[in-house]
Amino acid sequence: MSNLETRAALDFVLTLRRRWADTLYPRLHREYEATARRESGDLAERVHRLPSYGGFAWLERGSQKMLWRAAGDSVRSTPEAPRGTAQGPATLELDPRLQLPDWYTSWDIHLQPGGVWSSRTAAEIYELGAKLVMLGDNDDYKFHRLFVASAIPRRDYRRIVDLGCGFGKSTWPLKRAFPSAEVIGVDLAAHCLELAAERSNALELAIRYRQADCAHTGLESGKADLVTATMLVHELPLEVLAATFEEAARLLAPGGLIRILDFQLTGDELRDLAMREHGTRNNEPFMPPMMAADTAAMATRAGFDKVRWTAFDERDTGRLPSLQWPKRSEWHFPWAVLEAEKA
Ligand SMILES: C[S@@+](CC[C@H](N)C(=O)[O-])C[C@H]1O[C@@H](n2cnc3c(N)ncnc32)[C@H](O)[C@@H]1O
Repeated sequence: MSNLETRAALDFVLTLRRRWADTLYPRLHREYEATARRESGDLAERVHRLPSYGGFAWLERGSQKMLWRAAGDSVRSTPEAPRGTAQGPATLELDPRLQLPDWYTSWDIHLQPGGVWSSRTAAEIYELGAKLVMLGDNDDYKFHRLFVASAIPRRDYRRIVDLGCGFGKSTWPLKRAFPSAEVIGVDLAAHCLELAAERSNALELAIRYRQADCAHTGLESGKADLVTATMLVHELPLEVLAATFEEAARLLAPGGLIRILDFQLTGDELRDLAMREHGTRNNEPFMPPMMAADTAAMATRAGFDKVRWTAFDERDTGRLPSLQWPKRSEWHFPWAVLEAEKA
């Protein structure tokens, strides 16, 4: 495929997704307000009868598949992209004996064929898809910069551990904001970590990348002052999530902080239904149980205090003071931040 063709395919998918979010979802919402909200009976059945529902549901899954197809074509048709450099301040600790858990490998999470972990090409496709999925608003990773700027208290952290760091976009702003801290990114996916280290070398960021399960990092106890996880916990089965809270508590020194960016229910029943169904349509089987679970109680059981969720507005303000979302008519994810302190 020529560059022009792949570019056109990407533009087409992004336009389709924008219309899905800013036109089709509000139309579904209006139909719901006009009829389904006032009817009785099962919510999903009432919503599934709405005229726009079929197109809404189909386009959500169909455009996500198209996105991966277009991103894959783009990565594969780019003449051997420079691999970046293994030389530089970043370090990479891969564990060739690590067995990836079955729950991790048996789902193509986000519908990405082969998942993020299966090859170097898959990691690069994920990198491109992660930019595109924010509809052109994330070319410089604004989302993660906002998270660090608005949700992480300014302190002299000695060690920061970023769980589920992927190809590093959540880890870079931490190192930039806290240059004197030792920053460690942990992930199961070796190819993503390899990419993360190369990108960090190019950015001159001294980050340590370590291949491990977020529930068993193998790092020393009590040495970290901050543990973060962005867009990770909705990908974990509940028992792994509980073990991850325990691992975070083990890693932290007393008074250390945890900051988790993920999803929460909004109380708007149509949005919450759409999120639950997004879990099915987008192959994210652990997301609905995570959103339904009392994650704050899980954190408390693991040894955290002052546990609370606050909303996060990715457009400008980032972290909001409470779990109240601003009114928005378009489809958007209910991002929120879990904050807690090790007792
Ligand atoms: C959606 S990505 C988020 C990456 C990054 N934190 C960000 O915000 O862009 C989720 C990452 O979590 C990793 N992951 C999933 N389960 C994990 C586990 N049990 N231990 C470590 N990493 C895990 C995946 O490999 C993937 O790279």
